[in-house]
Amino acid sequence: MADSRARTSGIDTLVILGAGGDLTSRLLLPGLGSLLGSSRGRPLQLVGSDRGELSDREFRSKVRAAFGDAGGVARTVADRARYVQADATSGEDLAALLAGCEGRVALYFALPPAVAAASCRALAGVELPEGLVLALEKPFGTDGASARKLNRLLQTIMPEEQVFRVDHFLGKSTVLNLLGLRFANRLFESLFSAQHVERVDIVFDETLGLEGRAGYYDKAGALVDMIQSHLLLVLALTAMEPPSSVSSEDLRGAMAQVLRATRPWAKNGTSSRRARYTAGSVGRRKLPAYVKEKGVVAGNRTETLAEVTLAVDTWRWAGVPFRLRSGKALGDGRQEIVITLRDVPHLPTGFHAVDRPAQIRIRLKPSTMEVDLATNGSGDPFDVEWDVLRHDFGENELSAYGEVLAELMEGDPTLSVRGDVAEECWRIVAPVLAAWRKDAVPLDSYKAGSAGPSRWGTPPEAAGR
Ligand code: BG6
Repeated sequence: MADSRARTSGIDTLVILGAGGDLTSRLLLPGLGSLLGSSRGRPLQLVGSDRGELSDREFRSKVRAAFGDAGGVARTVADRARYVQADATSGEDLAALLAGCEGRVALYFALPPAVAAASCRALAGVELPEGLVLALEKPFGTDGASARKLNRLLQTIMPEEQVFRVDHFLGKSTVLNLLGLRFANRLFESLFSAQHVERVDIVFDETLGLEGRAGYYDKAGALVDMIQSHLLLVLALTAMEPPSSVSSEDLRGAMAQVLRATRPWAKNGTSSRRARYTAGSVGRRKLPAYVKEKGVVAGNRTETLAEVTLAVDTWRWAGVPFRLRSGKALGDGRQEIVITLRDVPHLPTGFHAVDRPAQIRIRLKPSTMEVDLATNGSGDPFDVEWDVLRHDFGENELSAYGEVLAELMEGDPTLSVRGDVAEECWRIVAPVLAAWRKDAVPLDSYKAGSAGPSRWGTPPEAAGR
């Protein structure tokens, strides 16, 4: 990532549009606090902006609360933060906001996708300061067509290197560890192909329920919220060809290439499942049925658990199913990439066979890895049994949000989603969304706190747990 960092200079002023919103206080400011309190933190001017009235003092105390006990330059940044009341969709307001900023500016759209798009349209008519960087949150657009339209508009405003499509999964330590694991070891990369791999499962189950986010989530659902963006990027890093460097061009180019080859296993999108939770308990927490949550419209038939099986049409991966699954209010917050290996071509006659295939399990929380190893050491030497090699990747210094913000503040787009990648992600899920709209796939239900709909059975990758 160093080469692109050298190419661009850092950011002096970070402007947050939507500073009064949930995203800003829940994720963005804590992530910024983690960055400012780290060895990579450096002073900057923080400007919050929203439609509502707020004094500088009130905004500063909001920032301090979100920064918590972050050290480093966090305190100074919070003490100097400013608030500007503005309508993010008004060209006039945006021009005045930008005119009051110093040095190189990053404009962060912590806004719903449709408002962010309207704001970009307003920006197109404004004279922009040199080196301005735009940061947009996922989901990028609301479907393929709107993502394409937004990309075309952004192209007319500034070069792609100055547009950051933020996806904090690219800042997760395990996700980044995939790169080192695959491309700095002889041991694993040679296994990553259809010759050795039977299937790949990328699972991100959450114990959290809706958490008061009906306004956004009830229109998105699990497929768009998690699979369309986050998990497809994890697939890209798991399946891509080795890039020649980790510069933004090479890394993002390799990700785009593998995503272009990815499609639903059944081209009509029916290689998918969906479900919605009913009332239940997750641990000691009682959850109402999803449809009873405040703000949910039952008629939207929004899924809270989604599963899609995809194919990657390349020489390396032909015939290997990639199953992506994510859901809310599940009993076990399993978050992992499971690579199930094929059986050995021939187990020497006389060995008692092991009962399940070998797996490599790469866990996101905590950031660890397990590799199954068949051994015949203890007891009967011809009785082959499983041992597990465990490795703790350790957490990065920065939170996932802190990591992507660090790249943004350093002006390095390596960990941001390139425009064509965002469009590919929408293209991949489009047949699934269409099949669901036509009801070609039933909407199942599962009890909050369970493992999912009982008729889905035990997932194949769970064998090694
Ligand atoms: C967000 C989704 O992008 O990612 C949430 O909108 C989800 O629904 C979250 O809970 C998961 O990421 P993390 O890092 O908070 O576990």
